[in-house]
Amino acid sequence: MMAMGLLWMGLALLQALETQAQMEDIHQKIPLQPDFQEDKFIGAWYSVGLASTFPWFLKKKAELTMCKSVLTPEADGTVNLTATFIRNNQCESRTSLLRKTEEPGHYVYKSIKWESDHNVYVVETNYEEYALLYTSKTKGNSHFNMATLYSRTKDVKTELKERFIRFAKSHGFTEDTIVILPKTDHCIDEK
Ligand SMILES: *[C@@H]1O[C@H](CO)[C@@H](O)[C@H](O)[C@H]1NC(C)=O
Repeated sequence: MMAMGLLWMGLALLQALETQAQMEDIHQKIPLQPDFQEDKFIGAWYSVGLASTFPWFLKKKAELTMCKSVLTPEADGTVNLTATFIRNNQCESRTSLLRKTEEPGHYVYKSIKWESDHNVYVVETNYEEYALLYTSKTKGNSHFNMATLYSRTKDVKTELKERFIRFAKSHGFTEDTIVILPKTDHCIDEK
């Protein structure tokens, strides 16, 4: 009787911990660049590193190349993020309008096309060289996460690539979900 009681208690505790772990996963507190300055963060960046749990990404990741993201402040206070990349040998652009939140460096946007909600966190940046971003995406009941390495230049020091890989791993991304994107001149000429 005593043993059954203990077993039951153990199971209940385990279940409680599991639920808590899931909750933390969804509402994980993502750190932000202290004293974030948007005016220094805007401009052109190259996405040179990506990590994602999104099934499409995992299928396509071997074929992806670097893409360019241009951030421009809009008059209404949002930030226009226009990403240009090559897809099926053609240049494509996609615009997301990032809305500020109360926390500087934390933005939100909605994709009407994909019916998804996104939270974007600028975790770390020195503005002139690199930025580490964390994005969480919610579509219906599904959650996907993404880590991105932004670089001001197409060529990136090995040290920075390694730093990105460590960053992605620290947020739970496994080796097989992380890619350093190969350099390309298509669609994304350096200005
Ligand atoms: C966002 O920027 C792109 C490229 O700079 C521009 O073509 C587009 O019109 C802008 N979109 C909005 C909604 O302001």
